[in-house]
Amino acid sequence: MSLIHALESIVGPSHVLIEGDLSAFEQDWRKRSKGRALCVVSPGSTEEVAQVIKACASHQTSIVPQGGNTGLVVGSIPDESGQQVLLSLKRMRSIEAIDTDNLSITVQAGCVLQEIQEAADHAGLLFPLSLGSEGSCTIGGNLSTNAGGTQVLRYGNTRDLCLGLEVVSASGEIYSGLSGLRKDNTGYDLKNLFIGAEGTLGIITRATMKLYPKPKATLTAFVAVHDLERCVNLLARAHQALSAQLTGFEVMNQFSMSLVSKHIPQLACPFPGAAWCVLLEVSDSESERHASEQLEALLSDAIEQEVANNAIIADSLQKAKHLWHIRESITMAQAMEGLNIKNDISLPVSSITEFVRVTDHALKEMLSGMQLVNFGHLGDGNLHYNVQAPAGMPASEFLLEFEDRVNTLVYQKVKQFKGSISAEHGIGSLKVHTLPHYKDPVALQLMRQIKTSLDPLNTMNPNRVVLLT
Ligand code: FAD
Ligand code: MLT
Ligand code: ZN
Repeated sequence: MSLIHALESIVGPSHVLIEGDLSAFEQDWRKRSKGRALCVVSPGSTEEVAQVIKACASHQTSIVPQGGNTGLVVGSIPDESGQQVLLSLKRMRSIEAIDTDNLSITVQAGCVLQEIQEAADHAGLLFPLSLGSEGSCTIGGNLSTNAGGTQVLRYGNTRDLCLGLEVVSASGEIYSGLSGLRKDNTGYDLKNLFIGAEGTLGIITRATMKLYPKPKATLTAFVAVHDLERCVNLLARAHQALSAQLTGFEVMNQFSMSLVSKHIPQLACPFPGAAWCVLLEVSDSESERHASEQLEALLSDAIEQEVANNAIIADSLQKAKHLWHIRESITMAQAMEGLNIKNDISLPVSSITEFVRVTDHALKEMLSGMQLVNFGHLGDGNLHYNVQAPAGMPASEFLLEFEDRVNTLVYQKVKQFKGSISAEHGIGSLKVHTLPHYKDPVALQLMRQIKTSLDPLNTMNPNRVVLLT
């Protein structure tokens, strides 16, 4: 039997797409790459995923898993061969159980992040993972990329939110690790192998995730700051003043704000003249009054001591959402502006100011007028240090001539300052050739050994994350 017929008999013919416009599955979110799939198969259950994997293995055909296809490192689309099966998890989107005593939720991998947040909210609880793509990314994709987002400071990355996983292995066996336990020292922590593996070791089919009590009050402030050094200083003060109540600390430079104002004018920055802006969120478990007194004291002190220039605190949930919307629209505004060089780096917070000073200078020496779209999760030491062509230079010409040179320069500086070339977006195929230059060689060798022992036929999302040769 041909592979297509075998897949049709497993999931039903209507869930195997072979022709028509498959670009929603074959093109990456940033429209930088387009692949071609042998077919798109959408299983409806874990058992069907297992059978699909077995059928593909017996035809020596590789599989690319896909959730919401919002990944930013070209890991969720097929290559150009037309020989890979794209396995979409979109049909597997049930919320299966909420355990309010255990503070946990069990969902299928294709569940959209926002639906999980809403289900938790209806149960009077909080699922804290929060990304600009939450309306379309899936929990399986979040786990597979170990996504970060805007609440990491308080709640950690996706990895920290996961209690248990169900995974279909490369040989089609179902690993039932769907535990809600917070303590389980019975050997290797297998779930942590699959988290952040970007689909290269198996397919995540279900997950049990942590929930939290909802904070009694959440306050959001937008702060104008003269330079990045002062943003770092404000972060240190916020840690001191607010300790665990500090849930988010985001920074945005003026150029990134100007892109949002240009393309999405209804989201204009409240402080258009500010060199930097900080979006700061406080969640309080006592009362709104307590949170507001602490935040006001922090900000007035910072303004008095010239750490901040100006600040507003949102006085309604709607205004807080508006401020967050401004921050979360930078990615879309950048996409609307055209092609650019995207970076997702992390550094010790204590080195960030010096890194940016030295690297900004070196980039401008390489090509004067280069524009830096610099923003990110300063509280986590994670910057999206993006680079755009000088005004008037076509983006395609800039990328052709400067993309490799810019990336090499940025990554070398990241290495010099003991950082990472991927903080939260992953490696995918975009950085798979770069990784060996910056990762510890022993770590790379161990990664290859893990890959070959869990996926000996190299059929699970091959040539992503780690190259075998
Ligand atoms: P996909 O893009 O479909 O897949 C991502 C990777 O996971 C691929 O390698 C894929 O093969 C693999 N995969 C998907 N599902 C499974 C599965 N069930 N089993 C095994 N492998 C699987 N990322 C952040 O970390 N922080 C942010 O703040 C953030 N903000 C974003 C804002 C916007 C506007 C956009 C477009 C993206 C943003 N991202 C962010 C990136 C992206 O949304 C995340 O990486 C997200 O976790 C991807 O989820 P997805 O369901 O879209 O996965
Ligand atoms: C963000 O922080 O907004 C995301 O990681 C997306 C991006 O880097 O553009
Ligand atoms: Zn980010």
